[in-house]
Amino acid sequence: MRNVKISAIGTYVPPRVLTNSDLEKLVDTSNEWILERTGILERHIADPEMATSDLAVEAGKAALEMRGIDAAELDAILVCTVTPDHFFPSTACLVQHRLGAKHAWGFDLIAACSSFVFGLTTGAHLVGAGTHKKVLVIGADTMSRIIDYTDRTTCVLFGDGAGAMLIEPAEDGEPGFVGFRNEVDGSGGEALKMPAGGSRLPPSHETVEQRLHYVKQDGQAVFKFAVRRMHEISAGLLEQTGTPASDVKLMIPHQANLRIIKATADRLGLSPEQVVINIEKYGNTTAATIPLATMEAINDGRLKKGDLVLFSAVGAGFTIGANLWRWAI
Ligand code: ACO
Repeated sequence: MRNVKISAIGTYVPPRVLTNSDLEKLVDTSNEWILERTGILERHIADPEMATSDLAVEAGKAALEMRGIDAAELDAILVCTVTPDHFFPSTACLVQHRLGAKHAWGFDLIAACSSFVFGLTTGAHLVGAGTHKKVLVIGADTMSRIIDYTDRTTCVLFGDGAGAMLIEPAEDGEPGFVGFRNEVDGSGGEALKMPAGGSRLPPSHETVEQRLHYVKQDGQAVFKFAVRRMHEISAGLLEQTGTPASDVKLMIPHQANLRIIKATADRLGLSPEQVVINIEKYGNTTAATIPLATMEAINDGRLKKGDLVLFSAVGAGFTIGANLWRWAI
C-alpha cells in the first residue's frame, strides 16, 4: 500500500442551536442532569428544509476550498451517515451531483457512530491501492430527523452536523496514514436501533403510532460496551503499530458521552491535554463528531503538521474502529 495523507478538512453545522434549557421545555429533564450525565450543553439542529446532503455538500465544499481544487478532480465520494436523504438514491450520488464532481463514483457507508473512522479506512485503501488520487470522505448526520423529542432518554444526546476530509497520495516519508483496526459485533444490534422503516418492519400506521421510526436504545448497555471497547480497540491499534500512548499528540474520539471519553482516556493513560472534547457544543452528531472535533483542534492550535492523531469510535451495530494518522496539513 502506498503512503496516503489527509490533505484537507471542512466542516458545517446548521446555525440553529437547541440548548439544555430549550429541552427542559420539551421533556422532564434539567440542564444539570444532562451536563452531569453527558457533558452536553447545546447542539445544532437543521431547519426542516435542510437534509443530510445539504450539510454534506457544505462540508465537502469547505474541504475542497481549503485544498484549492475543483470537485471535478475527485475520484470518489464516500458519505458516512445513518440519516441519508432517502434509502436511494444514495446521499453520495446527491452530493456528487451538487458538488459537480463529474468524474467521481461513490457510495453511502452505514456504520453509525463509527462510520467516519470506517470511511477514513476505506478512503485510505482506495488511494493506497494506487487506483484513486482524491477521495472525499464525508461524515454527515441529521439526527434530529430520527430522534423522538418526547423521549428524554435519547433526545438530549444528539445533534446535526457534517465534516469532510480529503485523502490523497503522500510522498514517502511525508506524514500520513499509520494504521487501523475496525471491528463489528452484531450481537449488540438490539441495544441501539431504529426499529422500523426498513424491510424488516416497513412503514405502516402501526409503526408510526408506536413511534418505531425513532432511535431506541438501552443506554446503559451501550455505555458499558462503549467504555470497554473504545479502550480495547485504541490500545490494540497502538500495540499493533508499536506506538506508546505518550507518542499520541491527540486522541480525537467520537463524542457520545463525556464519561465514555474520559474513561477511555484514563484507561489508555492519556493526559487531558492529549484528548479533544467538544461534546458540550454539538452533542452526538454521529458520523460528524470526529471531523468537527478535529477542526476545533486545528483552529485552537492543538493539532499541527507531523502530530500523531488517534481517531477512535464505537457505534450502533455494534461497530468499533480506530485509525492512527500523522497529521499532514
Ligand atoms: N433527564 C432526566 N432524567 C433522565 C434523563 C434525562 N434526559 N434520561 C434518563 N433519565 C433518568 C432515567 O429515567 C433514570 O431514572 P430512574 O432511575 O427513575 O429510572 C435515571 O435518569 C438514570 O438513568 P440511566 O439510564 O441509568 O442514566 P445513565 O447514567 O446511564 O445515563 C445515558 C443515560 C446518558 C443515556 C448513558 O447511558 C449513555 O450515554 N449511554 C450511551 C448512549 C450513547 O451514547 N448512545 C449514542 C450512540 S452510541 C455511541 O455513540 C457510543
